[in-house]
Amino acid sequence: MSNPRTVTDPRKLRLALIGCGAFPYNTLYPMLRNLPIELAGICDLNPAMTERFSNFYRAPRAYGDFKEMIDQEKPEAVLCVTNLDTHYEAAKYCLERGINILTEKAPCQNADQAEELSALQKKSGKFHGVLFNRRWGTAYTLAKEVAARGDLGKLTMIYSKFNTKAYKDIDFFVYNHIIHMIDLTVFIAGELSSPALQALVLGERSGALEIHCRALESGALCTIQSATEQDEAYPMERLDLAGTRGNLTADNWRDFHWDRTGPGRDMDYSLPLDRQGDSLSWHPAGGYGIGRGIFSYMGFEAALDEFVKAALGEGTFSCTIEDCIPTMRFTDQVRSLVKNLAKER
Ligand SMILES: NC(=O)c1ccc[n+]([C@@H]2O[C@H](COP(=O)([O-])OP(=O)(O)OC[C@H]3O[C@@H](n4cnc5c(N)ncnc54)[C@H](O)[C@@H]3O)[C@@H](O)[C@H]2O)c1
Repeated sequence: MSNPRTVTDPRKLRLALIGCGAFPYNTLYPMLRNLPIELAGICDLNPAMTERFSNFYRAPRAYGDFKEMIDQEKPEAVLCVTNLDTHYEAAKYCLERGINILTEKAPCQNADQAEELSALQKKSGKFHGVLFNRRWGTAYTLAKEVAARGDLGKLTMIYSKFNTKAYKDIDFFVYNHIIHMIDLTVFIAGELSSPALQALVLGERSGALEIHCRALESGALCTIQSATEQDEAYPMERLDLAGTRGNLTADNWRDFHWDRTGPGRDMDYSLPLDRQGDSLSWHPAGGYGIGRGIFSYMGFEAALDEFVKAALGEGTFSCTIEDCIPTMRFTDQVRSLVKNLAKER
């Protein structure tokens, strides 16, 4: 079904793209094209990347310097999909000029930069959205809703895991992979306390890592696990929540299983269904396109839709740089522990 806004509403968001690498080319831009946007310009340090993009998507103008593109094209919003340094630089440049920006994760290098951007965001009245896509993933949003309503009672344990292939270096492992599960845990449980690590080093670029910590608000014990050596064909992740009144699992983005205490059934062999108890499961029937579902199961689609609407002034974006400060603070701590570990080897 086509989006009715594109037919009935002439307003389109004038959007510029920084970074034309694999991810925007294959995944994000094809999703954006269904939304009410007008591409103002594209930019990449590598001309081969802008050329490939223009050939396929017909971008109006291509640049090698994002500042020049923004000054020339004056977009209403920017999508930046590059690396930590450029995400930070571009977010700063845009907020200083009153332009909304969405960056991929990680949004910057560390918590100090996140705080700086957050202060700029407040001052500018515009937003720096961050594409921590788990925050829109369907099974994860169900998990969050059930936990936030208090239906699990007091949260006691959180377990989140994400496996991947061998990484190119330790920073890549932390900022590209582990950070997703850190952010998911923060999304569910809020700020996390100081981490302790268990690690198994298998080689220069491979290993397994378990982070133990507590969620400050609920006191829940948290375990965040990530390991390499898996062929990076999704699915490969899982979230378990346990509370004083129940537990649930969000498996591979889509499957959701919530165990609730059932009614007393002593000697009742018929086991009638009861609305108030029993387990609830949700298993979407795999009818969603594999190309889109592969990284997120609707997380990206929902996030991009929200971004375009918020930048057009219709609502707010739910994961801004301010929400990412606890994620970046905890990631800083994990990174320094992982670095120490590498030195000890
Ligand atoms: N959330 C997810 O699940 C997910 C999945 C894949 C990628 N990503 C993120 O997307 C980002 C890009 O990934 P990718 O696979 O497209 O990487 P890539 O290496 O294919 O592309 C990055 C591109 O950015 C360009 N670039 C770098 N600095 C630039 C600058 N200052 N100005 C303009 N262009 C610049 C490079 O020339 C390159 O073409 C990374 O931050 C990655 O973490 C997120």
